[in-house]
Amino acid sequence: MEYFAHCFFDGWHFLGREIGALHSSLHVDLTRSLPVRVRERQRVARKAFDCVIGPCSEWKSIRLYGTIQKLVAMTNTPALVGPELGADTRWVNGLDMFVYSLVFAIFALSPVPRLLRPVVKYVAWGPNWFLYWRLKRLAYPVVEKDLREHSEREKTQPKPSDKSTTETSLLGTWLAARYRPEDRTADRLAHDFIVTMFESMTTTICTLYFILSELVIRPQLADELRAEIKANLVDGQLPMSHLGELRKMDSFVREATRTNIFSYLTVFRRVLKPVKLSVGPEVPAGAVICVDAYNMVKSQAKWGNPETFDPERFLKLRQQPGHENLHQFTSLDSDMPGWGGGPQACPGRFFASNSIKVFLTHLLLNYDIKLPQGAVKPSVGSMPNGSVMPDYLARIMIRQREES
Ligand code: HEM
Repeated sequence: MEYFAHCFFDGWHFLGREIGALHSSLHVDLTRSLPVRVRERQRVARKAFDCVIGPCSEWKSIRLYGTIQKLVAMTNTPALVGPELGADTRWVNGLDMFVYSLVFAIFALSPVPRLLRPVVKYVAWGPNWFLYWRLKRLAYPVVEKDLREHSEREKTQPKPSDKSTTETSLLGTWLAARYRPEDRTADRLAHDFIVTMFESMTTTICTLYFILSELVIRPQLADELRAEIKANLVDGQLPMSHLGELRKMDSFVREATRTNIFSYLTVFRRVLKPVKLSVGPEVPAGAVICVDAYNMVKSQAKWGNPETFDPERFLKLRQQPGHENLHQFTSLDSDMPGWGGGPQACPGRFFASNSIKVFLTHLLLNYDIKLPQGAVKPSVGSMPNGSVMPDYLARIMIRQREES
């Protein structure tokens, strides 16, 4: 939060405060629950695609970013905060608006002289504060129910060792079980719902935007991925696992995020007390530090051919003896800047990987995609805070496959 408040022109106090219970709920409980949810997530993905894409036996033009945004909202929201908020258009649209107004605030404040920012920030961040307040109110009935159910369970199963949460529980149940009684409030849980949805939506949407931008120009790769999926289907459905079986898809997804980074910088921190790094001088308190993600993924020394898009790059690395479980999309490697690093590294990365694989499986088995006549690969731009911004207007063509 120190970093964001400093670099987002002060006024950013929404996310990033102490989130121990949320971290464990996402990293441990949510990750553990993924295998039992695969089939359900496939069903939800089918419903979302049918609803958002609609019938398309002939080629149909769709806006890439906007379509992915709707699909991710419909598939991620119920899996995280439950079907009630998942079906509530006020909640789903409110989250979209939260992201757009954040982009607005960053752009609006960047040319404002530093002296004027303490005043102008109230106008620029106003829409975000309003939406945050509104989203919290929408979340209250759900989290209050979660808290009531938790106290009922505590009465019947007083020992913490009793199984108070299961793989089929949702975020509210896990959070209620993980917070200490004095912190277990509707306000905390509602805040955590917003943090989770905010952190999960834009990142997953942008990552899928990059992945589809690479896939749409590689029909041969789409066929290879289809073959891998079909070879791993059980009774026509994905296996109930963490989907590690889809090794080629995993390698492709990781290569797509290596060549299309989400942000030029990563591991953003503000130093609160002086730190002596293993190299270089002591970093003074108050300094803003981050890691150069751009040069990490473009390093000639590291990759040999950094500019080449090789979907099997990581698959080949995993074929080396002893490396079978390394170089995965979710691995926290020093050359994989996309998840941040250290104790604050993204706790939702296993869920994100699962969502992306379920999404791609449904897309590849049921649709063909291509660029519109004369179009080039969808591009990206930059934001004043070092993030990458997709082309919100880019379009692709989509058509239902005759046989999946
Ligand atoms: C492909 C999708 C995603 C990407 C690229 C991504 C990336 C990141 C990055 C770079 C950070 C900052 C880490 C750091 O400062 O070291 C982060 C933090 C976080 N992410 Fe993700 N994320 C993704 C999906 C998700 C999902 C699906 C969830 C929730 C289910 C999630 C929840 C969080 C949370 C709660 C934090 C804050 C952690 C903290 O401050 O301690 N993320 N993510």
